Amino acid sequence: MSWGLANRLSRIIRPEDGRTVMLAVDHGYFLGPTSGLECPTASVVPLAPYADTLMLTRGMLRTCIPSTVDTPIVLRVSGANSVLDDDLSNETIITDIEEVIRLNAAGMALSIFVGAPHQHQTIANLATLIDLGERYGIPVIAVTAVGKDMVRDARYLSLASRIAAEMGAHIVKTYYVEEDFERVTGTCPVPVVMAGGKKIPEREALEMTYNAMQRGAAGVDMGRNIFQSDSPIGMIEAVRAIVHGGASVDDAFAVYADEKAKGGAVTATAGGLADDRKI
Ligand code: R5P
Repeated sequence: MSWGLANRLSRIIRPEDGRTVMLAVDHGYFLGPTSGLECPTASVVPLAPYADTLMLTRGMLRTCIPSTVDTPIVLRVSGANSVLDDDLSNETIITDIEEVIRLNAAGMALSIFVGAPHQHQTIANLATLIDLGERYGIPVIAVTAVGKDMVRDARYLSLASRIAAEMGAHIVKTYYVEEDFERVTGTCPVPVVMAGGKKIPEREALEMTYNAMQRGAAGVDMGRNIFQSDSPIGMIEAVRAIVHGGASVDDAFAVYADEKAKGGAVTATAGGLADDRKI
């Protein structure tokens, strides 16, 4: 691994404990103005100091995030589709590597759709991106999305995660499953970070985080369960308490509840689309 790649990787996964709390706010790349992200400057910027990285598109970075924010950036670089298409797997690379460097990104994220109609295209996209990442020293996070009609279980997610690692991904992002999650983390030779999925009650999201960490995850790349919470700062602090502090679910929930009691909500949810049925 080149020095530059190792250095950028250490800005994503904290070297002190090998763990990370990534804040995923890239949903608009195919969902448009997702609930909680209608006005990213208002909802995301206050959360940035609590995140180890921000994962977002170049458009949102350039227009909504001040260049003085020093939270490392992971750029979402695959897309070119929308929620209006039944087949979400038809993605391509949407951001040139020179733009990634210009934007001072610490990493790049791209989705693969194993088992979906455009499986080959998206895995080939990943291989191309990894070659570029190796050339310029920029780590690649492969997002394993669920293909049409694929069951979200450990068998499928370990297949998709392992394929991503075999292609050379430096980090794999996948979903948590209750049954056999160890199989997903145990058969993937690179760090696995957990996507949060649809908004669920805060305690359940913290339980899921705790269980994922106990079962081999290196952290989270979580979105809706933070920015759609009634206390986004409380939630990200609580998730940090589990991921970096080794807190129990009860202790983490108390962190969330304390922050909520201070009234520190930052979300702006009016008018956004809640159409997250496909992720
Ligand atoms: C999905 O492909 C997007 O990249 C999101 O980043 C991902 O779904 C994680 O966010 P959430 O925790 O809301 O599921």
